[in-house]
Order: sequence, then C-alpha cells, then structure tokens
Amino acid sequence: MAATLPPGLWSPASAGNDEPGRQIFTTRAQPACGACHTLSDAGSAAEVGPSLDELRPDAERVAKAVREGVGVMPPYRGKLDDEEIRAVADYVARVAGGAS
Ligand code: HEC
Repeated sequence: MAATLPPGLWSPASAGNDEPGRQIFTTRAQPACGACHTLSDAGSAAEVGPSLDELRPDAERVAKAVREGVGVMPPYRGKLDDEEIRAVADYVARVAGGAS
C-alpha cells in the first residue's frame, strides 16, 4: 500500500510507514493533513496550519480538530469514520510527542 504514495511528494521518515494513522495523514484524509501541516514523521513540511511537531497535541485535541474542523481546517466527520479519526489522532499524538 505504501507503494501507492506518489514518489517525491512525501517520503516517510521512519520505518513501518504503512501504519493506518500515517496513511490517513498523508493520503487517505481528503484533503490530506500533510497538505497543510508539518509533521516530520510523515515527511510533510506544509505551513498552512500549525506545525504539529511544535504544537504536540494530545490525541483528544487532534480528534476534536479532525472531527469538527478549526478555522480554515475542514471538518472530517462524515469523511473519516470514528476508527480512522482515532487512528490518525493516536498517530499524530504519538509521533509529535503529545501522547503519554
Ligand atoms: C486546508 C488545510 C488543513 C488541512 C487539510 C488540515 N488542517 Fe489541521 N489545521 C489547519 C489550520 C489553518 C489550523 C489552525 C486553525 C486555527 O487555529 O484557527 C489547524 C489546526 C489543527 C490542529 C490544532 C487544533 C487545536 O486544538 O489548536 C490539529 C491537531 C490539526 N489541525 C490536525 C489536522 C489533521 C490530523 C488533519 C488531517 C485529518 C488536518 N489537520 C488537516 C489547516 C489544515
């Protein structure tokens, strides 16, 4: 599945790069989180939204933002199911260092 990532667009920094949370972040969420956010583990460096590496949100904060949207960030409720929101939230919190 990782092979479907467009070459050169993102180059996931660490191994195990087909974990669901990262896939949602880089491609499955539409628009992709990585199009707007910096997250080094996902290899994204966009600056439309805050850098998640610096924000270090916990999973609840990510899940809420993804479900409901914030400012210009669109809500993903209805596009991602609860399991996918949970997966991407846990992933971001873990790799950004916001998880315990
Ligand atoms: C169209 C660009 C865009 C996309 C796509 C996007 N975001 Fe955002 N995101 C933003 C902006 C801009 C903000 C800051 C909003 C504000 O504070 O007004 C933000 C804020 C956030 C926050 C912080 C919320 C808070 O509590 O302050 C998190 C966490 C987040 N985004 C995660 C994600 C995740 C995960 C995805 C993919 C499912 C995603 N974003 C997709 C633009 C985007």
